[in-house]
Amino acid sequence: MNMQLLENILTSYGPSGHEGRVAEVIREALEGHVDEMYTDVMGSLIAVKKGDGTGKKIMASAHMDHIGLAVVDADKNGFLRVCNVGGIRAAKMVSGHVIFENGVCGVVGADEKVKGELQVSDLYIDIGAETKEEALTMVALGDMCVMKPRVTRLGENRLASPAMDDRIACFVQAAAMLELPDNLKNDVYAVFSVQEEVGLRGATTAAYHVNPDLGIAVDVTGVGDVPKVATKVPVELGRGAAIKIMDRSLICTPSVVNMMEKLAEESGIAHQREVLPYGGTDAGAIQRTRGGVASGAISIPCRYIHSEAETVDLRDVQACIDLLKACVTA
Ligand code: CO
Ligand code: ZN
Repeated sequence: MNMQLLENILTSYGPSGHEGRVAEVIREALEGHVDEMYTDVMGSLIAVKKGDGTGKKIMASAHMDHIGLAVVDADKNGFLRVCNVGGIRAAKMVSGHVIFENGVCGVVGADEKVKGELQVSDLYIDIGAETKEEALTMVALGDMCVMKPRVTRLGENRLASPAMDDRIACFVQAAAMLELPDNLKNDVYAVFSVQEEVGLRGATTAAYHVNPDLGIAVDVTGVGDVPKVATKVPVELGRGAAIKIMDRSLICTPSVVNMMEKLAEESGIAHQREVLPYGGTDAGAIQRTRGGVASGAISIPCRYIHSEAETVDLRDVQACIDLLKACVTA
């Protein structure tokens, strides 16, 4: 596994709508290894490996964007007030470190004595400014920050980092593209999509453009293997690639689920079924494009999603790379 590429993808700045740096890292890695590569109007990076014309057109999609916070105000003492960009849980941001595109860093505080669940509007960001004027010379209204990247190895096989959702899948797609043979049957479009966290927006336009016969999203999914989970789900870390059955954005096309399970069996790839009563993926957008597209998803099991502690197992990551390769070469 190319750990340097993984780290570069994980640590690139890229909240929804500002994924350019992530795209640059991936473009550099794939340059010379694909037949075509371009960025669309939305900012999605599309890398194409052409088949021999006898196969299908397959679109895989992994989102580059990361949830974040956008500046809405600075108070007289220089503290920033923010709104969410994507599914931020305020309580998980408190005491965290954040970084803006221009390198300005901050730490997150919260109003005390808040009744009920903490809201994003209860948060403030301390960037070291002492006045409103100073704060607004350091960042502008609308500037977005993300949880400051770091990558921590946990035990033998596990890795924790804030942007696992969904950079780990960007890595899976990039690795699969790099390892594909040149004599493909299928045309493979690897889409590194934008703005998934705010409503599958990049995949929506990319799917319309690509017009695929088969859609496969690659994304993280929640697990049920930590103490006292609120919602019981069957997925466990370290038990292999999760083959999605459903989430809030789609019911996967049964023939696609069957194909994935069969390929995993035949190739001896560790796999498990994912049934997720919450969340969504790019597959939900691909499935509903034009007249409808057979779609499914390969999910990387991930603990603590949408927090600084997002944790995956590298054996699952490898299983997802192997399963994606098997799907696009079948
Ligand atoms: Co997410
Ligand atoms: Zn995601």
